[in-house]
Amino acid sequence: MGSASVQGPLWGAKAQDWSELTEPGQQPFYEAVFDALGIGPDTRLLDVGCGAGLALQLATKRGATVAGLDAAEELVAVARGRNPDADVRVGDLEQLPFPDATFTAATSFNAVQYASDPTAALRELRRVLVPGSPVAVLTWGPPERSEMRDVLAAIGGLLPPPPPGAGGPFALSGPGALEALVTGAGLRVGVDGEVPTPYAYPDVATAVRAQAATGPAVRAAAHSGEAAVTDALTAVMRRYRRDGGVRLETWSATSSPAPERAPRAGSWCGRRACGTAPRRASPRCAGRSPGARRARGCRSGPAPGGRRSPLPAG
Ligand SMILES: C[S@@+](CC[C@H](N)C(=O)[O-])C[C@H]1O[C@@H](n2cnc3c(N)ncnc32)[C@H](O)[C@@H]1O
Repeated sequence: MGSASVQGPLWGAKAQDWSELTEPGQQPFYEAVFDALGIGPDTRLLDVGCGAGLALQLATKRGATVAGLDAAEELVAVARGRNPDADVRVGDLEQLPFPDATFTAATSFNAVQYASDPTAALRELRRVLVPGSPVAVLTWGPPERSEMRDVLAAIGGLLPPPPPGAGGPFALSGPGALEALVTGAGLRVGVDGEVPTPYAYPDVATAVRAQAATGPAVRAAAHSGEAAVTDALTAVMRRYRRDGGVRLETWSATSSPAPERAPRAGSWCGRRACGTAPRRASPRCAGRSPGARRARGCRSGPAPGGRRSPLPAG
């Protein structure tokens, strides 16, 4: 069984605060990734762990046809309201309810690290992609470069012991962990780098409300009480009063050379590994001459539609 039944109620409990206080600040982060993936009118995009669907909305503005999936019913309800024409489903990213080769691009922003089997989640992403399609998977960079670690440490003592095999915010943030996951799922790593990821709020109370809406904080509140979580978050947010508000500096890091269209430095971005799903030989196309391949509409380039992939293998 996947992790959706555990994670869904946690992330859905304060869906309004998540969608109004935290998600909007991530817009530059989504845009940077969509630039890197070349999301546009020809794209059929799937975003897994789509949360309240802001990323889907931004991809739609670029002309893409979009679909999303998330474990949290309440977040999916917000996502459907924001994306009335999209196919947004409640489900488990470890068992996607879509046929093989349905999409031409896929993203997952800060969600795969919560899966009980992240490799299964990425294999599922690969399965539902047209071979050769770009995919971006993002997670936090190393805790030592992320002030968000202090937020998580503050509530860490209020959490019950984790269930066996459970993921968590920094589960894929160790050196090489995300890259190993990507390659282990049969995807090719094509992009990495390092970018700042600040979280900024106008005041301590707003910062506390925003961070109390995360899955780990909701779990801590269920175990230790809402007041204990509020106190712990208030203490840590007071330490980060800066620039007339609250600001947490978070860095995201990866390691190989910059790709030709990487997310811009200075954008909001999590640690990321992007890859392409290897092409499968189609019996209709395999072994044919170039003329016969053209006549049968077989793809000749490394990406769907013969376009050059914006995320070449590294
Ligand atoms: C940190 S939030 C990120 C949400 C959104 N991608 C964003 O950028 O705001 C993690 C999301 O992953 C979802 N999630 C966690 N485990 C999941 C699973 N097994 N299947 C589907 N969604 C899952 C949660 O419900 C939550 O919406």
